[in-house]
Amino acid sequence: MGEGLQSRSTGPRVAAIVPAAGRGERLGGGTPKALRALGGRPMLVRSIEALRRSESVTQIVVAAPPTLVEVVAQLLGRDVRVIAGGAERVDSVRRALRAVDEDVSVVLVHDAARPLTPPSLVDAVVAAVLAGHPAVIPVLGLTDTVKEVGPDGRVIRTPPRDRLRAVQTPQGFRRDVLAAAYALPDTPATDDAGLVEALGVPVTTIPGAQEAFKVTQPPDLILAEALLARMAPGDPRAAADPRGGTDPRGGADVRAGSDVRSLG
Ligand code: C5P
Repeated sequence: MGEGLQSRSTGPRVAAIVPAAGRGERLGGGTPKALRALGGRPMLVRSIEALRRSESVTQIVVAAPPTLVEVVAQLLGRDVRVIAGGAERVDSVRRALRAVDEDVSVVLVHDAARPLTPPSLVDAVVAAVLAGHPAVIPVLGLTDTVKEVGPDGRVIRTPPRDRLRAVQTPQGFRRDVLAAAYALPDTPATDDAGLVEALGVPVTTIPGAQEAFKVTQPPDLILAEALLARMAPGDPRAAADPRGGTDPRGGADVRAGSDVRSLG
């Protein structure tokens, strides 16, 4: 298990970018999704912990809503660089890329809304990039059949399910590859690897983790709370306190089951 960002002075430099500047309206509740509490701690704090507890990440850059930069910086601690996000996710990642230290050779992009991501998944992505793959994504097979549907609601085709994968984060990239992808003008993509694909650079898949699911809809929060409650007491992801303690009220002004609207 990692010892914290500050203690790593040798080996490859690996930055993790977390775009968390969106409004997250699908989850409801009137609070930016990343700041919604899960088991007494904001989801963003939990997602950052997976990066911090990994063996490989040496720098973390978070893009926060411009009005909440100070709040988020206080919440995350001094080892995390917090910058103001842009109008769209791509703008937020582009800005965060500019804040990555010069000596960094590998960049991860991680969703703020994957609070139960195992640190071992972070390390597996980094290891695959360091092994020579320019772009690496964690994936899972699908249980639902997926249809392509036209604007009129009619099915166009059914891609074979055994060739489809659901994509998670962190996604990992050689720094120069991600920078080139983000230099492309107006490329439509729903994930960072999609931009890299547009460059013609091969993207490699590794096995994802069930717990790394994205909290998007209200039932996802219920599932995440239930999983947290069932985690072994020694699992750092189960901790309610930002420093890994067992205080169920959590740190700062964050109360169990509430959100951090009071901090804004
Ligand atoms: O809204 P959506 O789920 O597509 O957002 C994906 C991620 O991108 C979220 O973590 C959100 O906070 C982030 N984002 C951002 N800057 C924006 C819009 C979204 O960092 N302007």
